[in-house]
Amino acid sequence: MKFLVTGAAGFIGFHTAMRLCRLGHEVLGIDNLNDYYSVDLKLARLARLQDAPGFSFRKLDIADRDAMRALFDEQRFERVIHLAAQAGVRYSLDNPHVYADSNLSGFVNVLEGCRQTNVGHLAYASSSSVYGTNAKVPFAVEDAVDNPISLYAATKRANELMAHTYAHLYRLPTTGLRFFTVYGPWGRPDMAPFKFTKAILEGQPIDIYNGGEMSRDFTYIDDVVEGIVRIQDCPPPYANEPEELRRGATDRLFNIGLGSPVRLLDFVACIESATGVEAIKQMKPMQPGDVLQTWADVGALASRTGFRPATPLHEGVARFVDWYRTFYGV
Ligand SMILES: NC(=O)c1ccc[n+]([C@@H]2O[C@H](COP(=O)([O-])OP(=O)(O)OC[C@H]3O[C@@H](n4cnc5c(N)ncnc54)[C@H](O)[C@@H]3O)[C@@H](O)[C@H]2O)c1
Repeated sequence: MKFLVTGAAGFIGFHTAMRLCRLGHEVLGIDNLNDYYSVDLKLARLARLQDAPGFSFRKLDIADRDAMRALFDEQRFERVIHLAAQAGVRYSLDNPHVYADSNLSGFVNVLEGCRQTNVGHLAYASSSSVYGTNAKVPFAVEDAVDNPISLYAATKRANELMAHTYAHLYRLPTTGLRFFTVYGPWGRPDMAPFKFTKAILEGQPIDIYNGGEMSRDFTYIDDVVEGIVRIQDCPPPYANEPEELRRGATDRLFNIGLGSPVRLLDFVACIESATGVEAIKQMKPMQPGDVLQTWADVGALASRTGFRPATPLHEGVARFVDWYRTFYGV
């Protein structure tokens, strides 16, 4: 099939595009290659992808309405996997407008492109951050999500509501994927697994927020990609059925997480064991916008696709540290 993967130079987009190409699909990747983090890392991912059979790339900003319309008209994608976004909770405190441009205007352009050219299924990235300060764990897709505590989270929740509207009005088959703290080779330099590993290997201190009293449902990249690939293969029910059967919603939501939260200090211990170096810990107060815990209920994903993320943390962290050492030569 012919796929559009947005954010293809990004962490999850790179791995997803690579996997789709290996499965024999044709993939056009787009990305604006912004400098939120190292452009060299994005280019290195793209250099890998250029060798994948069926892959091509275009530098393009999803907020550019005319360019997006022209792209969809010209290419006639069968499937769209939308992963481009301005990510990061903390950055959204100081840089609100880029979230509005990429995550809201950009998302409308993706929805419109899909609607106007009858794309068979749009799977898009949401985030565990939509659960905000919810106390009930694990977080399930049926839970109310009315209390986002960062602009980033609010844009992700807005995406879910916008996709719902397009599914309802235009019968566009859409699926929202709430990712839980994804880590692994080629990972993001702004996220804890990367920042901790880098600092520990360089003998620099690491910041531990809230005295380490927080936990995250760390999810290995291969599990996330497996979830994306399986979900994109099953568009929501009714989307292709006759009109009278189309009463059910054509949009859905899934959590993609390991379902096994880990306390921050245990996570650091895992990196210490993989690197063989003890961390220098610097205790810091809780950061605005951060949530205390994330924990995915993956029941919906498992029952729809038969797949449940399973990579144990120590294995995933060891693979990440191996990659880090090789890539940076340390
Ligand atoms: N990594 C995680 O733990 C995690 C967790 C929850 C949700 N998500 C979501 O998953 C998606 C992928 O995340 P990631 O970790 O790969 O992030 P990433 O930053 O590595 O990838 C996003 C890519 O999108 C590109 N991009 C940003 N704005 C763009 C624009 N306006 N036009 C074109 N390209 C643009 C960036 O250059 C980047 O390469 C994002 O939507 C993110 O919000 C990620």
